[in-house]
Amino acid sequence: MLILGIETSCDETSAAVVRDGRELLSNVVQSQIDIHKAYGGVVPEIAARSHIEVILAVVDEALKKAEVTWDDIDAIGVTYAPGLIGSLLIGTLAARTLAIIKQKPLYNIHHVEAHVYANFLLDPQPKFPMLALIVSGGHSQLALFKNHGDYELLGQTQDDAVGEAFDKVAKIIGLPYPGGPSISKAAEQGDPHAFTFPKARMQNEYDFSFSGLKTAVLRRVQELCGKSHDFPSTGLAKLLNESQKHDIAASFQRIAIETLVDKTVKAFQEYSPASVVIAGGVAANSELRTQLRARLPIGIEYAPISLCTDNAAMIATLTFYRMALQRPADPYTLDVAPSLSM
Ligand code: KG4
Ligand code: ZN
Repeated sequence: MLILGIETSCDETSAAVVRDGRELLSNVVQSQIDIHKAYGGVVPEIAARSHIEVILAVVDEALKKAEVTWDDIDAIGVTYAPGLIGSLLIGTLAARTLAIIKQKPLYNIHHVEAHVYANFLLDPQPKFPMLALIVSGGHSQLALFKNHGDYELLGQTQDDAVGEAFDKVAKIIGLPYPGGPSISKAAEQGDPHAFTFPKARMQNEYDFSFSGLKTAVLRRVQELCGKSHDFPSTGLAKLLNESQKHDIAASFQRIAIETLVDKTVKAFQEYSPASVVIAGGVAANSELRTQLRARLPIGIEYAPISLCTDNAAMIATLTFYRMALQRPADPYTLDVAPSLSM
């Protein structure tokens, strides 16, 4: 089975070809990071327009790199949920059109579930039951997979995603976008215990909340700069010295990552999974990997960074497993679902 995956839910235009849900033949990712950098975050309108400009070229390149033609492709899988509405529409409309013209079955794929499936491109593949921590700029979820297509969402963020918190804190202290890698790098030179920030208490112990942590950082920085609570966050970075920035980055990162790890460890103790996988852009965080390794009795599995951040290889991989479980979508009517939960 040769599957073409298409992903455009946020700011990466991507197409990939995967054989039998485990052999990666190509994964073309056209990132818009450089375009959005100037604004300090993703601008939805610009993202959608940039997808239009490159989507067909990206699909062509994925086929070319995989050394296959349209005749070889058995099915198309596309991200239809969740994400930015304009971005999702471009990928979905492109996939629908291609499915009609090339006469291929079309499968609608959930982006967050797909993040987990980047790990099925690993050898050996993760075992069920599998505990998955999915953490990125748009999502923070903890899910237990009993089998393909059979999973339970244990918890999710009630406000900001963890990657979003990294991005916002980076902006406050004047580090470049995307904030995750910048914070990690600054944190290496800082003292993680220089500042104490609160951990949110949740009614469902597996849910997350990161907006309070972000505000706590803002308040602490305002105090540190001798400014009141209404002083604009955009004016703070230039009042901080390098060592203060490093300490804030390290202290924020410690709490954000500890929060993720505390809940993962708790779920591990409750459900005794056979494997633990981490997925999404924040899975690249080395502090997260270090803390999980130290606190879990089994190893953690994660894909290379290019498969942790948004990509179409994970979409094509999940499509393969989904084909046995769901009917193809109608290419004339498939709609997007921007806020559909897992
Ligand atoms: O999965 P992804 O590419 O896009 C979404 O679906 O959101 O994840 C991007 C997010 C950004 O918020 C970025 O700051 C974060 O992942 N990120 C990191 C690291 N590398 C990327 N966060 C923490 N530590 C990192 N090393
Ligand atoms: Zn994502």
